Amino acid sequence: MSLVLGIESSCDDTGLALYDTKKGLLSHGLATQLQTHQPYGGVVPELAARDHIRHIAPLLDKVLDQAQLKVSAIDAIAYTKGPGLLGSLMVGAGFAQGLGLDLGVPVLGVHHLEAHILAPFLEKKAPSYPFLAVLVSGGHTQLIAVEAFGKYQIIGETRDDAVGEAFDKTAKLLGLPYPGGPALAKLALNGKEGAFTFSKPMLHKGLEMSFSGLKTQVYNQVLQLGTLGAQQKADIAYAFEQTITDTLVHKTKKALEQTSFKQVVLSGGVSANICLREKMAALQDTMGIEAFYPSLEFCTDNGAMVAQLGALRLDDKKSLVEDSLAVLPRWPLHTL
Ligand SMILES: Nc1ncnc2c1ncn2[C@@H]1O[C@H](COP(=O)(O)OP(=O)(O)OP(=O)(O)O)[C@@H](O)[C@H]1O
Ligand SMILES: [Mg+2]
Repeated sequence: MSLVLGIESSCDDTGLALYDTKKGLLSHGLATQLQTHQPYGGVVPELAARDHIRHIAPLLDKVLDQAQLKVSAIDAIAYTKGPGLLGSLMVGAGFAQGLGLDLGVPVLGVHHLEAHILAPFLEKKAPSYPFLAVLVSGGHTQLIAVEAFGKYQIIGETRDDAVGEAFDKTAKLLGLPYPGGPALAKLALNGKEGAFTFSKPMLHKGLEMSFSGLKTQVYNQVLQLGTLGAQQKADIAYAFEQTITDTLVHKTKKALEQTSFKQVVLSGGVSANICLREKMAALQDTMGIEAFYPSLEFCTDNGAMVAQLGALRLDDKKSLVEDSLAVLPRWPLHTL
C-alpha cells in the first residue's frame, strides 16, 4: 500500500490530492484563480504562476488535514509535467521535486491529458480497456482510441479551436464573464429551440473537427442583430450549445463505428456540460454502448486525476521516476 500526492498546476487551477493505492482517493483540494484572471477575460500566464506559488503549500496542509495524515506518510509524488503553461508547470515541478528530495520519496512527472482521460477511473462506475476517449477541454478536442493503459492513438481532432475554447470565446461575444463555458451553458437553459440555427461544421470530413467557424457564425449573427436583448442572448447560447454538442456526438458515433469499441469515456472540462452528457448517454440506447464520465468536480483540472495517474504509472514498470525540473509545455499524447 502506498500514498501518492498528486499536484496539478498546468494552467489556472492549483489542485492537490492524496491517493491511496488500496483505498483510492483520500482527499483533494483546489485553489481557483478566477478573481485573478476575470478582469482580463482570460488566463494571464505570469499571474497564474504567481498564484500557484501562493496556493500550493497551504493546499498541501489542507489535503493532509482532510486525510488526517502527516507529510511523512507520503510515499510518492506525481506532478503535471505538461502540456500547459511553462511558468505554471514549473511551480508544480519545483514544489514536487523539492518535497520529494526532503522526504526521500520518488517523484514522477505525468501527462495532463492522460490524467484527464483516465479521470473516470476515480468513479465507482469505471470503464475497462479498450475504449474511445472523447477529450473535450479548454485546449484540446481529441478522439482517442485507448487500447490499454498508456496506449493512445489519436484518431480525430480539431483543426483549430478546442471545444472549450469555442465555448469561452462565444461566451465572451455574448458579454458573459470568464470562464465562459459554464456561464454559456447556464444561459442556454433559458433559450428557445429554433430561434437561431447554426450549421454543424465538418460533418462529412471523417473524424476531423473544426470549431472556429462556428464561433464566427455566432459573431456574424451578433453583428447583424446589433444590440442583443436578454432572450436573444439565451437563444443564441442555446443554438450554439446544441450545434457544438450535436457535432461532437456525430463524430463520436463515427469513431465508435470505426473502432467497434463498446465504451466511450468523456473527459476534460467540457465533459461537465450537461447537454453533452445527456446526448452521449442517449448513445447507450441507440448504439448499445456504455458511456462514462468523471464526476463534475473532476472534469476540469484537479489534483485527484494526477494522483491517480501517478499511482498507475508507479505501478507500471516502464514509467521512469524524474529527477529534473524539466517541464514540457508541448507534449503530444501519442509520444507516451
Ligand atoms: N458546463 C460547461 N459547459 C461547457 N464548457 C465548460 C463547462 N464547464 C467547463 N467548461 C470549459 O472547460 C474548459 C476548461 O477545461 P480544462 O480545465 O480541462 O481545460 P484546460 O486544462 O485549460 O485545457 P487542457 O486540459 O486542454 O490543457 C473551459 O474552456 C471551460 O469553459
Ligand atoms: Mg485540463
